[in-house]
Amino acid sequence: MRVEIDEDRCKGHGTCWALSPEVFELTDDGYAVTLVDPVPAEFEGSADEAVRNCPERAITAS
Ligand code: F3S
Repeated sequence: MRVEIDEDRCKGHGTCWALSPEVFELTDDGYAVTLVDPVPAEFEGSADEAVRNCPERAITAS
């Protein structure tokens, strides 16, 4: 599993980081970046939660 953040859509809500801190981090500006690529199997569940709960639908998984 890979996750990608659409920088144009991310508004810095931080839900991704709250749900899956092993996979997402917030920059000093408050926008999301990914920490791991691909996502290790043990973090796929939380990463999927982040994908589904981003208010801006800024994260895509493949
Ligand atoms: Fe951005 Fe969505 Fe995370 S808006 S900070 S990718 S919850």
